[in-house]
Amino acid sequence: MLIRFLPILFIVTACTQPPTTKSAREHYFLTQVKPVLQEHCVKCHNGSLPPPALNLMTKVTAFKRSATGRDYILPEDPDCSLLISAVQRGGTHPKMMPRTEVSLTDDQIGMLREWIEDGAFWPEGAAGTLHAQKSAENP
Ligand code: HEC
Repeated sequence: MLIRFLPILFIVTACTQPPTTKSAREHYFLTQVKPVLQEHCVKCHNGSLPPPALNLMTKVTAFKRSATGRDYILPEDPDCSLLISAVQRGGTHPKMMPRTEVSLTDDQIGMLREWIEDGAFWPEGAAGTLHAQKSAENP
């Protein structure tokens, strides 16, 4: 168990500087968190799955609880955030049938952990509204 998490810990401590001010946190959300969620998650998690399924369109919808009463995003506690458990499970999405690679890199997972550890800042308004983004994997 510990061995599995060591590379992630290393990335978090070695490569990311926790943002300190509100504008630094907003910058981190806009440049790191938002693009990854838009490219890899919002295609499905956009309100088309009936609640309480995760809806990553806005802060209000994303900060809800799952059917089992767990937080998808629990600020300052990545280990208790279902979003992190889902992307860490060996790169396979737990709920998709058939199971499909979510394929986040260790860097991206480390970045999401760091973001949640630092309070999971998510701005209001247009900056905090996500839209599915096309990519090679997501045409
Ligand atoms: C191809 C569609 C699709 C993509 C892409 C996708 N998901 Fe999901 N996800 C689903 C479906 C369907 C469910 C099941 C809905 C439910 O019961 O909550 C689900 C469930 C979840 C759950 C709840 C898991 C649980 O254990 O209860 C989390 C958290 C989650 N997804 C996070 C993500 C994140 C983060 C990404 C991007 C890295 C992502 N998903 C990408 C379709 C997708």
